[in-house]
Amino acid sequence: MSIMQFANKTPDQLHEERLAMLIDIAKELEGEVIFPICFDASVQISTVMKSKTASLQRIAHEVQKDPLITAKLLKMANSVVFNPMGKTITDLGAALTRLGMETARATALACAMQQLIRSRDLAAFEDIAKELWLHSIKTSMIARVIARRLTRVNPELAMLAGLVHDLGAFFMLDRAGRYPELSERPKTVEYLVAQWHESVGNILLDSLGLPEEIVEAVKEVDLPRDFIETPRNLGEVIYVANLFAGGFSEMQKLDIPDLEEPKELSYGKYTDLSTEMEEACQEMISLF
Ligand SMILES: [Fe+2]
Ligand SMILES: [Fe+2]
Repeated sequence: MSIMQFANKTPDQLHEERLAMLIDIAKELEGEVIFPICFDASVQISTVMKSKTASLQRIAHEVQKDPLITAKLLKMANSVVFNPMGKTITDLGAALTRLGMETARATALACAMQQLIRSRDLAAFEDIAKELWLHSIKTSMIARVIARRLTRVNPELAMLAGLVHDLGAFFMLDRAGRYPELSERPKTVEYLVAQWHESVGNILLDSLGLPEEIVEAVKEVDLPRDFIETPRNLGEVIYVANLFAGGFSEMQKLDIPDLEEPKELSYGKYTDLSTEMEEACQEMISLF
């Protein structure tokens, strides 16, 4: 079902401006998605990174156009998570080789998201945006730990999927800033974002050209599932990672009847990894 249909479903309950925003977003997602400028630069970089034919040299050349991302990538490559042996590198090409393409893309996107939350358009929703950014970084790093420790899922892919799983929410916040009445009501916007970000994100990730595997994996992450004893695929890794990154509060905003705290949050197989999860999150956050 398209967002347009969703939006049309409940016109009575929605204030005009809320409806206008949803319809505008729906229209925009049907055409070519235009992200804020700072986002565009990084998405272009990630497009290059995604291209299987691009040489490492060409990618390094593109990335170097953005000094901020270059600096983050070098820091990242020399962090404890990616450099447990403590062998420092100073060359971007070597950093990209060490990190792998998915991690490099995730870092570029994390950087872009951070620029976005600092933009003037998001000033009204600064707190929500900051929390969302932290939640995304945490989901990303926790997904990496879970994938590495408990599954055969590619940890770097898990990291990227974790980072973008709530990208629709960023997009909605950015758009909400354009409606004066909504800007004055962050609580309303928070509720709207909680309800709609998944459907928006779905279309958004697709139009940004993210791998199909990721687009599929981040679907319905906020809806409770049967207990997952061991994650079997990327989608289940992201589901559990989202929970450990505070995703239960997202579920609670969805008016789900008889919602209970998911059992995964107290299950030993996962909680045994909590120190490692916490350290990985802290390390990534400290880079920014
Ligand atoms: Fe979400
Ligand atoms: Fe989430």
